[in-house]
Amino acid sequence: MSELAGIRRIADWVAANQNQPGREWFMNVSATVESVDRPVSRRRFVRVLLGFSVVSSLSMVVAPVIGFLIPSRKRAAGAAGRLLVGTVDDFGPGRSKVVALGSKPVIVLNSPKGMRAFSAICTHLGCIVGYDVSQSPDIVSPCHDGHFSAISGTVISGPPPAPLKEYLVAVQANDIYVQEA
Ligand code: FES
Repeated sequence: MSELAGIRRIADWVAANQNQPGREWFMNVSATVESVDRPVSRRRFVRVLLGFSVVSSLSMVVAPVIGFLIPSRKRAAGAAGRLLVGTVDDFGPGRSKVVALGSKPVIVLNSPKGMRAFSAICTHLGCIVGYDVSQSPDIVSPCHDGHFSAISGTVISGPPPAPLKEYLVAVQANDIYVQEA
C-alpha cells in the first residue's frame, strides 16, 4: 500500500467515526498534548523564579532565628554547666586553647601558676586574645598590643580599660573543665 493510500484510509476512518462516543476523549487528549507542548511563557517563568527566591529568602531569615531560639544540646550544656576542654596532656607548660562556653569565647591556658581560664574578648575593642609564651608570658590582644596577666587577667599594659573576666577551672582525673565563676 502506498503512503498516500494509507493517509486516505486514515482520513476516511476519522470521517466515518466523527460521531462515535470515544471522539471526545480523543479531542481532550489532543488538547492536553497541545498545552504540554506549548513553551513556558516568560511571565510564568518569572513567577516561578520569584516564588523560589521568596522561599529561599525566608529560609535564610527563619533558619538562624530558629537556631537561636532552640540552641543545640552541646551549646546548652556549655552555657548551663561546665565544659570539658581537654586533658592535662593537651595543656603542657605554656599551652593554651580558645574554647566556646555557650556563646562566649574563653581562653584556657597553663600559666606559670597552673591552669587558668579567662574571657578571650579583649576589654578594649573586643579582639580575641592569645597566649604565646615564646613572645611573652602575658595574654596579648593582637589589635593594639594590650597585655593582661596570664595569672590574674589584670591589665599590664596597653589600652584595655578593664581586666579579663575569669572562669573556674577544675581538673578531675586527667580531664580539664571550665565553667562560669
Ligand atoms: S582590642 Fe585589645 S588592645 Fe585594642
